This record gives sequence, structure tokens and C-alpha cells, in this order.
Amino acid sequence: MLLGTQRVNDRNHLEIGGCDAVDLAAEFGTPLYVMDEQFIRDKCRAYRSAFEREYGGSAIAYAGKAFIVTAICALAAQEGLWLDVASAGELYTAANANFPRERILLHGNFKTPIELEMALEYGVGFVVVDSLSEIENLSAAAQSAGKTQPILIRCNPGVDPHTHRLIRTGQEDSKFGSNIKDGSAMRAVKTALGLPGLELRGIHCHIGSQLLDLTPYVEAAPVMAQFMRQIRDETGLEMGVLDLGGGPAARYLKEQNPPSVDEFAKAVSEAVIAAVAAAGIAKPELIVEPGRSIVGEAGTTLYTVGPIKEVNLPEPPGKRTYLAVDGGLSDNPRPALYDAVYSALIANKAGDAPTRTYTVSGRHCETDMLIPSVTLAEAQTGDLLAVQTTGAYNYAMASNYNRFARPAVVFVTDGKAELVVRRETLDDLVRCDILPDRLA
Ligand code: LLP
Repeated sequence: MLLGTQRVNDRNHLEIGGCDAVDLAAEFGTPLYVMDEQFIRDKCRAYRSAFEREYGGSAIAYAGKAFIVTAICALAAQEGLWLDVASAGELYTAANANFPRERILLHGNFKTPIELEMALEYGVGFVVVDSLSEIENLSAAAQSAGKTQPILIRCNPGVDPHTHRLIRTGQEDSKFGSNIKDGSAMRAVKTALGLPGLELRGIHCHIGSQLLDLTPYVEAAPVMAQFMRQIRDETGLEMGVLDLGGGPAARYLKEQNPPSVDEFAKAVSEAVIAAVAAAGIAKPELIVEPGRSIVGEAGTTLYTVGPIKEVNLPEPPGKRTYLAVDGGLSDNPRPALYDAVYSALIANKAGDAPTRTYTVSGRHCETDMLIPSVTLAEAQTGDLLAVQTTGAYNYAMASNYNRFARPAVVFVTDGKAELVVRRETLDDLVRCDILPDRLA
């Protein structure tokens, strides 16, 4: 499986963005997150043009939580996207990139007072309010800032996306948003309309993540449209914006078949257009918030192969070959958290036929299995392992567990590689430590 600009070059090495992976590892060290810039740009453009064609008035908000660093914010800005941020840190990163403030959405089920103040000060396009208490807090903060803040109300449409239980959000039992069916969402609408400093512009929902099937969007559209109709009937206010969140899947395995951007845009647009017509309301501006599908397949993590060990198993096949890499849980917690699966190849033998099955483990002080079973070319210590589809929720979720330094991130394009995040140093790891005098 080769993704984006990945190809096998005439040295039999994996090449990404015209850069030889072996050269990248030599120059920047391993583990290394490599991001295929052209892939990301192509996805941004595909999203914008598909929604323009299928729907019309629409905006694509890149969900920064998937991978947010200053450079990607700048790239998303260049590509004309909006940006979804979910914390003060993400908003600060956007500001660091001079991301156009009117194209930012602030999310979160518990935004702190500081986050609400930052959003007002920065002048974000929308705060997506999640609860009654937050509506009250934001109104108070807006008044003291002397501003009126455009908001969307996060609704829970009660749609089950049938994805991993930890990345499901649109079902009734969720900490996010206000439930439409039990009347909470309407209470949120009426509360917002009764308070100063807020301008209610529309409604939002996010159903879940890594959705391989588009049915949940088709199910959510009429629920949201009917609710917009109910809002108009009960308050006289027409909702100008409908935001359906993110969620389209990325390809992790060859046999997975995630929807294309065109299929996603077509299914969502047709469902919304039909639903608003049936509800008898004006067609709103449509926002979607893809994260994983923009950056996931663009990312490859390069690791140096360490010890390779064979162990005997009581059950067939009787043997397991552990291949250790110089990273693991700290740069990719997704296998441990979500049983996430990945594909890999040996980057310095990229064209060789995969002949042997390995269990790829990390080097943390626990059983951090990165890939339970993957068939690779015959591997040796010192080889370079490329794990694919690591662009989303890998660097973003990386930690310093065991005091591992977080890897560098490079953007590659047209044969050029540029650092966008430098590798952490040992000094970085103790930067926040304080040694009280009495312990010194
Ligand atoms: N909008 C909202 C409000 C969200 O909560 C999310 C993801 C997105 C958009 C983007 O969803 P995407 O298009 O990337 O699926 N850490 C988990 C994923 C958590 C997703 C959280 N919300 C993982 O590694 O699978």
C-alpha cells in the first residue's frame, strides 16, 4: 500500500514528497514524523471544490486536534480552510500562525474562563457552545469584553456512528452537546437568545470519528434540519449555519475502503439539501470539520529497527518474532487506546516482497505493541521501518512517557524536507521541573 506521493525509488527505498526516507532518517534522526505536504494540500482543495460543487455555500474547517502545529495552521490558512480548535493551546497555536480569526471555531465540552476570554479577545468566528452553564459564562464574558460573540449550539442528534466506543459522540449517551430529543438543545437555544453578548447563528453536531460508512451523516441531517425548523417555529429565528462536524475515515489497511472526499461531499450535501427541503427551511451555510481524512494518510513515522527476537508460543503458529523499534507508546498511543491497526514496510527495502510476519513493539517499559501482526520483507537490526497513516492523532497525542523526547516533524514536498517541529532535547524534558532548595 503506497499513499499520497509515496513511491519506491531506484535505490529500492521508500520516497515521500520526492525525499528518500533513508536520507530523511540520516538527516533528522528517528523516530521521525514525515508529513506529505502535497497530499494535505490536495485534500484541502478536494474538500473545498467538492463541497462547492455539491452544495454551494460551505466552509471546510480543518479539525486541528488531529495534528496541530504552527505550520499546519499556516498551510490550512493558505488553502482557504477554516480551523477548529479545542483548547487554549490550539487557539494559541493558530494565533502563532496568524490564522484568520474570523475562520476559527472554538470547541470543547468544558471551556475554561481563560479559553472563553481568549476566544473573545482573539475574535474567533464561532464559539460552539456545549452547555447551559457555558452559554451563561460566555454571555457574561462577552459583556465584560464589550463584544458580541457569534455562536453555534452543539447538539446531540442521537445517531450512533458504530465506530470505536471511545471515538463515538453522536449517540444519546455522550458528554458532548445538548440532546435534541429530550428538549435540552431547545433550552440551550432559548437561553442563548435570552442573554446579551451572544449572536446565535446556527447549530452543530459531531457524530464520531473514523467513520467508514456515510449512513450516520444521512441519518443526522434530517434530525438537525427538523430541529432548525422547530427553532424557527418556536422563536422565529432562521438558523443560517449547519455544522455537521468531522469524522470521515482514513485508510490504515489496504483492505479498508474509506469514502473519498467526493463521496462524502455528495452524500452529505444531498442529505442536507433533501432534509432542509423536507423541513421547509432555508438552505443554511454548511460547515464540515474533517481532521483525520486530511492529515492521516499524509503522515508516516520512520523508526530504526532494534533487536529482533523469536519467542515460542504454546498455540499455532508456535512462534512469534518481535521486532523492536526506537519509539512506541509515547509517539503513537492509538494501538493501546483504540486497538488501532497500522500498515508498515521496511523503507530501505521498500520494493522487496513481504515474506515474514512480525510483531512490532516499542521500546517503552511495558508491552507496547505498535502492530500485533504485519508481514514485512526480511528485517534486520538497523533497518528503517515506515509505519503509515500516522498523520492524525499521533504527534497530537504523543507524550513524554518514560521521559522519551518527542520526535521531530518534517514536511516533505518536491524533494525538499523542512522541519516544522524540532526534536525535543533532554533539556526540554526537565524544562518545567523545579527543584526545591530543601531537596537540592
Ligand atoms: N469536530 C469535532 C467537534 C470533533 O470532536 C472531532 C474529533 C472532529 C471534528 C474531527 O474528527 P475527524 O475528522 O478527525 O475524525 N483520538 C481519537 C480521535 C478523537 C476524535 C475527537 N474528535 C483517535 O486517535 O482515533
